[in-house]
Amino acid sequence: MSSFNIQVNRKDFHQYKIVKTEAPRVENLGEGQILVKVDQFAFTSNNITYAAVGEVVGYWKFFPVSDDWGIIPMWGFADVIASNNADISVGERFYGYYPMGSHLIMSPIKVKPTNFSDGIAHRQALPPIYNNYINTKTDPGYSKKGEAIQSLFRPLFTTSFLIDDFMEDNDFFGGSTIILTSASSKTAIGLAYLLAKRKAAQNLNIIGLTSKGNMDFVEGLGYYDKVVAYEDFAQIGNTENSIIVDFSGNAQVQENLQGHLGQKLVYNCLVGMVDWTKRGGADSAASNGKFFFAPSQALKRNKEWGIEGFQQRVGKAWMGFTSQVGDWMTVKNSAGALELAALYLPMLDGKIDPKIGHIIKL
Ligand SMILES: NC(=O)c1ccc[n+]([C@@H]2O[C@H](COP(=O)([O-])OP(=O)(O)OC[C@H]3O[C@@H](n4cnc5c(N)ncnc54)[C@H](OP(=O)(O)O)[C@@H]3O)[C@@H](O)[C@H]2O)c1
Repeated sequence: MSSFNIQVNRKDFHQYKIVKTEAPRVENLGEGQILVKVDQFAFTSNNITYAAVGEVVGYWKFFPVSDDWGIIPMWGFADVIASNNADISVGERFYGYYPMGSHLIMSPIKVKPTNFSDGIAHRQALPPIYNNYINTKTDPGYSKKGEAIQSLFRPLFTTSFLIDDFMEDNDFFGGSTIILTSASSKTAIGLAYLLAKRKAAQNLNIIGLTSKGNMDFVEGLGYYDKVVAYEDFAQIGNTENSIIVDFSGNAQVQENLQGHLGQKLVYNCLVGMVDWTKRGGADSAASNGKFFFAPSQALKRNKEWGIEGFQQRVGKAWMGFTSQVGDWMTVKNSAGALELAALYLPMLDGKIDPKIGHIIKL
């Protein structure tokens, strides 16, 4: 059996290669290890951001190959095809963080009927949330039919939930206008959906900043009060205290917004970096903001609400959101290494239609 992965040049993301090898066999497994075959994963700009901040945050360390080449992590489903672990059987299916490739050897620890953690040595210093794998057999939120939506949105919508919660937790920093950049991105849409629900109680004004070509789509969602093109940023009023939630990471957009809002900017929340080539240097305007790292807020709420309380709240919000996703997004399935590779450069360069959710079947 053969296996493949797609490797990206860590210094020039436009260079990539499909690497094919013999798939690992059961005799390659150490004690307690399992071999999984990746079945499907989602591909969004979030995966590109893993590469963009790969050196700083450590995303290249999850599936390491060399100092020059790296494998981008993806969210999806894989099946156990060989097991040296008494607690995990061949045929079990897990949701989690997999390489952009077909196979992975893992060292499960803390195995429970619901989940396990990959205890492989090189992942131990990395944020635990990424090492957690959920067993589909016992996951109450799982359905075969819902796999694509789960792959596409579970990490993104959890982030949307955590930003919304973080803002409410901090009384919106005294702001009433909230400006979301890359307003057509899935994480921004999830946040706009949640903010729209609080709108009346908080007296919020939700503004989406997007590219000209995506304006009709973003307006049609109905979650934003006003949608403005990047170049027309002056159309955003500057009389109310305002918050920026930045998914674009574009230094010029930051400079424009900071200049326009002046003293009315009460909080600048840096979440994403979809426009990764325009992020600017360490002294760019973007660096004035505060980086939002979803796992940190999740940890805070897990402590305060308990893991179950946290999951219940996210689950309730998730049900409402996913019931509406079909109104604006269509899932498109691609298959195999070549179709995955064909999607890679358009995703890297932001040439993807936001109305499509891409799933890759391996
Ligand atoms: N900090 C955290 O913990 C955390 C967690 C989850 C997600 N995020 C971040 O949130 C961001 C959004 O991710 P997503 O997966 O939701 O995105 P997505 O749905 O794939 O977003 C697509 C949109 O992003 C913009 N875009 C994409 N690539 C671009 C490029 N190369 N240049 C310029 N604009 C580009 C375009 O929006 P417009 O036309 O509207 O600009 C495009 O319609 C990512 O940076 C992701 O890493 C952060």
